[in-house]
Amino acid sequence: MPHANHDHDHGHHGHENDRGITGALRYLRWLPQMWRSEINDAVVDLVDPQAGERVVDIGAGLGAGAMRAATSGAHVIAVEPTPLIRRLLAVRRFVSRHRADIEVVDGAAEHIPAGDHSIDAIWAVNTMHHWVDVEQGVAEIARALGPAGRLLLVDELFTDPTHPEYERFGSDHGPEHHGFTMIDADEMGALLSAAGLADVVAAQSHIADRPVIQVTAGGVPAAG
Ligand SMILES: C[S@@+](CC[C@H](N)C(=O)[O-])C[C@H]1O[C@@H](n2cnc3c(N)ncnc32)[C@H](O)[C@@H]1O
Repeated sequence: MPHANHDHDHGHHGHENDRGITGALRYLRWLPQMWRSEINDAVVDLVDPQAGERVVDIGAGLGAGAMRAATSGAHVIAVEPTPLIRRLLAVRRFVSRHRADIEVVDGAAEHIPAGDHSIDAIWAVNTMHHWVDVEQGVAEIARALGPAGRLLLVDELFTDPTHPEYERFGSDHGPEHHGFTMIDADEMGALLSAAGLADVVAAQSHIADRPVIQVTAGGVPAAG
């Protein structure tokens, strides 16, 4: 039932695959990439946060993107639904010299804790396949983004044999995909356009030499 989870009152908005000890253990193998990664560096550089802007990292994980974005002087809202990951991120934020510019908050794509049209830029790296309700995620992005807001959503295509980590992670994202949501670039683009976002481009491309699904809006440059 991919669209069943509209209930946001129980404090956890994430995918059921992210729950419990099994959900937490799933991330152990990913830990190094979640701390710092070229793909997050590249995504944040494309979004290009500016000092004084309010920006959102959806599914911030351990902060690979959020921490880099905070060096720009933007106010970064790091939205993370999985309690253990959020706690680790809060510790990382606390020891960062940019902590005044980072907020770690409970939420998800389907529940972005920000006021209507209050956000200058939103990005997400490797979270789209975790979204439980893609339509609700799109509605939330359209609600939270300001009129000139920028958007960049990226999921790496680990199942593509040209992906440098195909051998390592490809099986995690195989045909059954462990119950996670299969993301279709065209569908995501159509939903965002229908929600009123400007200049939506959704396609397979490459970021940091990795094959990705990339969805941009609001004039974020497409990666080369
Ligand atoms: C593979 S990790 C990527 C983390 C981080 N963006 C990065 O690139 O290092 C996927 C993240 O998506 C989060 N997540 C799970 N369900 C989500 C949802 N419905 N909306 C947004 N993020 C979600 C998970 O808790 C996890 O932190």
